[in-house]
Amino acid sequence: MSTLLEVEDLTITFRTAHGPVDVVDGLSFTLEQGASLGIVGESGSGKSMTSLAVMGLLPPTASLRGRVSLDGADLTSLPESKVRRLRGDRMSMIFQDPLSSLNPYYSVGMQIEEAYRAHRPGVTRRQAHKVAVEAMERVHIADAARRVDHYPHQFSGGMRQRVMIAMALSTEPDLLIADEPTTALDVTVQAQILDLLQEVRRETGTALILISHDLAVVSEIAEDVVVMRHGVAVEQAPAERLFSDPQHPYTRALLDAVPRIDDEIGELRGIDAAAGVGGKP
Ligand SMILES: Nc1ncnc2c1ncn2[C@@H]1O[C@H](COP(=O)(O)OP(=O)(O)OP(=O)(O)O)[C@@H](O)[C@H]1O
Ligand SMILES: [Mg+2]
Repeated sequence: MSTLLEVEDLTITFRTAHGPVDVVDGLSFTLEQGASLGIVGESGSGKSMTSLAVMGLLPPTASLRGRVSLDGADLTSLPESKVRRLRGDRMSMIFQDPLSSLNPYYSVGMQIEEAYRAHRPGVTRRQAHKVAVEAMERVHIADAARRVDHYPHQFSGGMRQRVMIAMALSTEPDLLIADEPTTALDVTVQAQILDLLQEVRRETGTALILISHDLAVVSEIAEDVVVMRHGVAVEQAPAERLFSDPQHPYTRALLDAVPRIDDEIGELRGIDAAAGVGGKP
């Protein structure tokens, strides 16, 4: 396997009225081609800023130090026009709220087609339409040939997230970043979207960065996990190791917040005992 993305000593600083503030401080990680990485941490720990830095989408009041290399080329030193070309083509991103990422005035098909054509100049409308239908089929939107002409409000939240995934994958990117892709969805739909991400990753070979404040969500998919707190990676390890043998107290605290089957059984036993039923005390 070869390295797709390498983030080295990334520091992101905001200019504020109270002076400069580092919101990400000395973060490093590596993502192999086709691999999956979870970034987990509490609100404000710098997860989104990290992903925006990779995509070259940091707000103008933020500046960055360190390196972000895609296939060995440092994106931070590329001209904006080149980064724009890579964005949406080699790397795509989906966000928490699919509704605000979609334009209510255009059919979802039109929006997938436009996103695709922006990166494939010379492609005809007809070809782009075909790509849009196929992309919607890939994310299991039933009756895609008809649904492609529907507008965002005609889709449920989970379906809209499927549309966003279809759009992000239409150009067959090497890297997909999903920033809290299931946070706005209810639990059953959340599980379906995670399954879908897992499936498209297997089928398309795209590498995935999954960002969440929820370690349970990350553990579903990620092979490696970075635990962030206050802009710093407090622990990074293969997911299995992180779960079996967490090193940092903060990781342990996050793990304690993950409900486990044996906890539930323990709780039920407790209830049984309190109710005077079940086995011997
Ligand atoms: N425009 C800004 N100016 C100054 N600080 C900012 C600005 N935007 C974000 N920040 C700060 O950057 C830090 C990191 O924010 P970021 O959005 O990356 O957090 P996050 O880990 O994605 O949190 P969440 O789980 O809530 O999405 C936060 O402390 C936030 O307050
Ligand atoms: Mg965020």
